[in-house]
Amino acid sequence: MKRESWGSRLGFILAVSGSAIGLANIWRFPHLVGENGGAAFVLIYLTFLILLGFPLLLGEISVGRATGKSPAKAFRMLGGNKGWGALGGMTILTGFIVSGFYSAIAGWIVGYLIEALRGNLTDFTTVGESKEYFERWIQSPVLTLGAHFLFLTMSISILYFGVRKGIERANKVLMPLLFLLLLVLLFWGLSLPRSGEALKFLWMPDFKALTPFAVLAALGQAFFTLSLGQGTMVTYGSYTSKSENLIFSCFPIVLMDTVVSLIAAGIVFTILFSVGAEGAGGPALLFHTLPVVFSQIPFGTLLAPLFFLLVMLAALTSEVSAMEPSVAYLMDKFGWTRKKCVTLVGIGAFLIGVPCALSYNLLANLRPFGHSIVDGLVFLGSEVLIPLGGLAAALLIGWKWKGKAWMEEVKQGAYEFVKRNPWLRPYLTFCVKYIAPVLIGIVLFQSFLS
Ligand code: PHE
Repeated sequence: MKRESWGSRLGFILAVSGSAIGLANIWRFPHLVGENGGAAFVLIYLTFLILLGFPLLLGEISVGRATGKSPAKAFRMLGGNKGWGALGGMTILTGFIVSGFYSAIAGWIVGYLIEALRGNLTDFTTVGESKEYFERWIQSPVLTLGAHFLFLTMSISILYFGVRKGIERANKVLMPLLFLLLLVLLFWGLSLPRSGEALKFLWMPDFKALTPFAVLAALGQAFFTLSLGQGTMVTYGSYTSKSENLIFSCFPIVLMDTVVSLIAAGIVFTILFSVGAEGAGGPALLFHTLPVVFSQIPFGTLLAPLFFLLVMLAALTSEVSAMEPSVAYLMDKFGWTRKKCVTLVGIGAFLIGVPCALSYNLLANLRPFGHSIVDGLVFLGSEVLIPLGGLAAALLIGWKWKGKAWMEEVKQGAYEFVKRNPWLRPYLTFCVKYIAPVLIGIVLFQSFLS
């Protein structure tokens, strides 16, 4: 069977951006910035993008393109033995696990989009009320499971149609829509009272708030938001043509991902400041605080659904990319049809998401190691498996494949650019060979301590 491929450069860039831009940008980034020193945090975060994010993104995509295979085979081909193949397999499994809990969490967003459309999110006067409303929502197994199912069904419907007609086409429609919604919400946020103060709060660097925890969080964020370490970028890279200039594609992707995070922070904080709720933060932001704000500001009934639609679209294009490595693996390995593989992966992701969706209702008493099941899986995925996958990729690229061969691959489609910029090779190889393993090692060490 001939391998599928992207139809155009724009399609490729939008698909990879769609993978990168997700819950981590719109939900996690704003509260991380708010709690960890504003611009000081952003500065550290940008440094990690340069030292680790961009080089590894380019590296993983190059691995995919060089081999034209899904991660297990790709790692095996470049690493030269079965051990590397197993590590590549681990990254696929990580993406699969992530797709399970990601869908359950995105289900909450779907649920809240429906609530917003029904006009149920704009009658709160206190955070206590909106919190109680959310708790009631999340305590219903029918609602949490139903929402998880609905979200996964949307993802599967996109994957069924394949790389070009499914993933690429969906991203070509959904990403511009997402940008439009972001801009609408940003301008609306800026028009609210006290928006200047909100921006000042965000951009005032407070280096005192920059604890070691904040530095680690910035590192983890750089990693998770670019969908690294979980087979996604290797797989998306495998659909890329040799004439593609990978540097010219990866750069705007990292830039777009960052701009979206910054805009999302701008939106969330202008909204919060407008009603004096700036102290609010943490993961409860979306479900406890924002509904109260939507209840108080003009046009809240219209803006609440727009906001949750934005978050859902971002999550959808990421979910699809977390599932695709497993789909590609099954297709490569067994030669089954795409539809069959998508169905199997969909059922698997649904099953993994079931205990997550039930974490706050039927299985609320099941708290292994003192955490809810969903928190446990998020920890396992984002703080253990993803860094491990990233470490494996960095070691493979930096020490096995090596800078020279990697650059030969990058040069295809970017010959002139690589030739004119001789600093590229030392910068990229040094980051992937030394800086990435050390930084990821620190993250892993810290995960084991916690
Ligand atoms: N990058 C996505 C985000 O920021 C996360 C993600 C992508 C997770 C792909 C899994 C797979 O939300």
